[in-house]
Amino acid sequence: MKLWGGRFNKDQNELMKEFNSSFGFDKRLIFEDIKGSIAHARMLKKIGVFSDDEFGLIDESLNELIKQIRSCQIEVDGDFEDVHTFVENFLVQKLGDLGKKIHTARSRNDQVALDMRLYLKNACNNVIDYIEALRVALSKKGAENPYLMPGFTHLQPAQIITFKYYLSAYNSMLQRDKKRLINAIDNMDKNPLGSCALAGTTHDIDMEYTSDILGFIKPVDNFIDGVSDRDFVIEVLAALSILMMHLSRLCEDLIIYSSNQFRFITINDQYSTGSSIMPQKKNPDSLELIRGKTGRVYGDLVALLTTMKALPLAYNKDMQEDKEPVFDAIDTVIACIRVMKGVIETLKVNKDEMLISLNKGFINATEVADYLVKKGVAFRSAHEIVGRIVLFCEEKNRNIHELSIEELKKFSELFDNDIYPYIDYFNIVNKGIKKAML
Ligand code: ARG
Repeated sequence: MKLWGGRFNKDQNELMKEFNSSFGFDKRLIFEDIKGSIAHARMLKKIGVFSDDEFGLIDESLNELIKQIRSCQIEVDGDFEDVHTFVENFLVQKLGDLGKKIHTARSRNDQVALDMRLYLKNACNNVIDYIEALRVALSKKGAENPYLMPGFTHLQPAQIITFKYYLSAYNSMLQRDKKRLINAIDNMDKNPLGSCALAGTTHDIDMEYTSDILGFIKPVDNFIDGVSDRDFVIEVLAALSILMMHLSRLCEDLIIYSSNQFRFITINDQYSTGSSIMPQKKNPDSLELIRGKTGRVYGDLVALLTTMKALPLAYNKDMQEDKEPVFDAIDTVIACIRVMKGVIETLKVNKDEMLISLNKGFINATEVADYLVKKGVAFRSAHEIVGRIVLFCEEKNRNIHELSIEELKKFSELFDNDIYPYIDYFNIVNKGIKKAML
């Protein structure tokens, strides 16, 4: 069954039919499409297009369809152009001419814009729940491991931090990722149903009513925009891309920290894989895959940005290409967050290895300079003095705090015994990143 055909003399070419069909992927919108259809029918009853009985039959049939799909009595499959055709066909099969009335004052253009908004509002809320669960895992792992570790810049030892503080940086990033999704939901929270093809309808429809039923804040401001804008999809993809970028950096860190050269952490066997040839290998494939899939989600974003960039208003069939990328991105992101949560929960933190590493790389050099500043030296001059101390220590293979006071005094007379507590790792971290030790 086709939703059009009156003005055509010839049947569609088979290849074109297949090429045109989106049912293979937009069937994912089946429940949104049915929900939208029930709301539309209810509104048509309110404005007198359907009698109470007619609406009753439509409502009952569509609810029956939901039940049958859920209980696998009916397969969402077949030779249909799209999900909208499938639902309308079901009604016509069941109710005959009454089913044919459902498309009064509606176009697939506003239908698909509606379905996508309903779907994405829900999907974003799901992603937000998974983000929250990951944030809980990060906080917990941090609280259990408030140990000192070297912090890096340029991947060179920089200053002292704690593992807890390090993890909490990702918690802050994820909080912003969540906010971006909330904002995307807010931006898409307008009802396009009633925009019809692009110019509304001469029927006396009530969009406020369908907005209430479907849980939108209000109707869209402009019908052309309502059917032709996909920035809400792009915004979700952009937010998901940023989120993946954060996960990917976390992956990179954890891969490095788990390497044999670092040994700061051990990734659980459950989230590792082996080699077919090298028996000793335990590889962090979970993290490598999340890092790899980041490229895939960026690709989804760039694909849709490119599709949309030169489309004239209003609807164009190009826009059917929004679905596969966004479905892919949502699935990929949810899988990545869930795996990351597992990796974090099962991660072992090697306190001693981090401590050993702290003693390589003159990680308290900045605080030695700060000490001299407190004694009245200008920071740039203190920097120079400590640079020379570092050079000396490097040659002698010693740490700054291992030098005697006499040795230190050769670099500056201002050094005294109070230097040692000042550059003690715990004291430094307690002063610097106060929250870390709480
Ligand atoms: N499958 C289409 C899409 O995803 C639905 C809208 C079709 N509209 C149309 N005028 N052909 O965009």
